[in-house]
Amino acid sequence: MGGDNTFSLAASGVTVAFGGFKALTDVTLTVTPGAIHGLIGPNGAGKTTLVNVLTGFQEPTTGRILLGGRDVGAHPAHLLRREGVARTFQAGRLFTGLDVLDNLAVTGVGLGHSRHASEVEAMRVLSWMGVADLAEKPAAGLPYTDERRVGIARALMFAPSFLLLDEPAAGMSEAEADDLAALIARVAGELGTGVLLIEHNVGLVLSVSSHVYVLDAGQVIEEGDRSAITASQRVRDAYFGADQEAA
Ligand SMILES: Nc1ncnc2c1ncn2[C@@H]1O[C@H](COP(=O)(O)OP(=O)(O)OP(=O)(O)O)[C@@H](O)[C@H]1O
Ligand SMILES: [Mg+2]
Repeated sequence: MGGDNTFSLAASGVTVAFGGFKALTDVTLTVTPGAIHGLIGPNGAGKTTLVNVLTGFQEPTTGRILLGGRDVGAHPAHLLRREGVARTFQAGRLFTGLDVLDNLAVTGVGLGHSRHASEVEAMRVLSWMGVADLAEKPAAGLPYTDERRVGIARALMFAPSFLLLDEPAAGMSEAEADDLAALIARVAGELGTGVLLIEHNVGLVLSVSSHVYVLDAGQVIEEGDRSAITASQRVRDAYFGADQEAA
């Protein structure tokens, strides 16, 4: 199907309706391995809904979700995660009663691995990210930035093929966002993971993404590389507003 032999994750003509309201209308987007794709758009544009529909948290009303050309639109989230599609959430969603290592290990067990193998994998991921010192800390007391990092670490358990990041830099300082950008580049470059990066920090998205989609009122109004996005009058009108610049 699709005539594309790359193992990609795609939305094809996806519409999501909540009652009479369309959160997404005929959205087509592809995430390819080893590359960073940006997704930007104003509040309420439909970005999180698109992540939900690509990860099995929401079924498309019409249209298809394709994983390696197979329609997985009816697959629930836990199954898609096993098939290699991982995400983070806008809000942390850690298990606050557990330490960091156990927060990651729970995901491994949910994926069908033993507790031991899950703990080994959790340490491997934390070490790879350079935050092994967080392992024994209670999730409840973590500073905000570390909480975001743990969310990403959890999503990286057992090497997913795709990682969808829903506003991972929200609330971060510029220096912290730069560190995050470097991490995301390593995820794509070293692990070969296909990344979809959703961010209000447009500068961050444009600096790391090879391809950017712009969503407005549930529709893709522009897509392309950095120069195409910054040159687009449609994007300026819809997203940046009359007198704003990309941060
Ligand atoms: N379960 C739902 N039921 C009804 N409407 C919903 C539901 N989920 C989202 N919406 C609506 O769909 C639209 C898109 O929401 P979504 O959360 O996808 O936007 P977003 O681009 O992620 O926004 P933000 O930048 O604020 O995170 C909004 O108008 C929202 O109110
Ligand atoms: Mg959102």
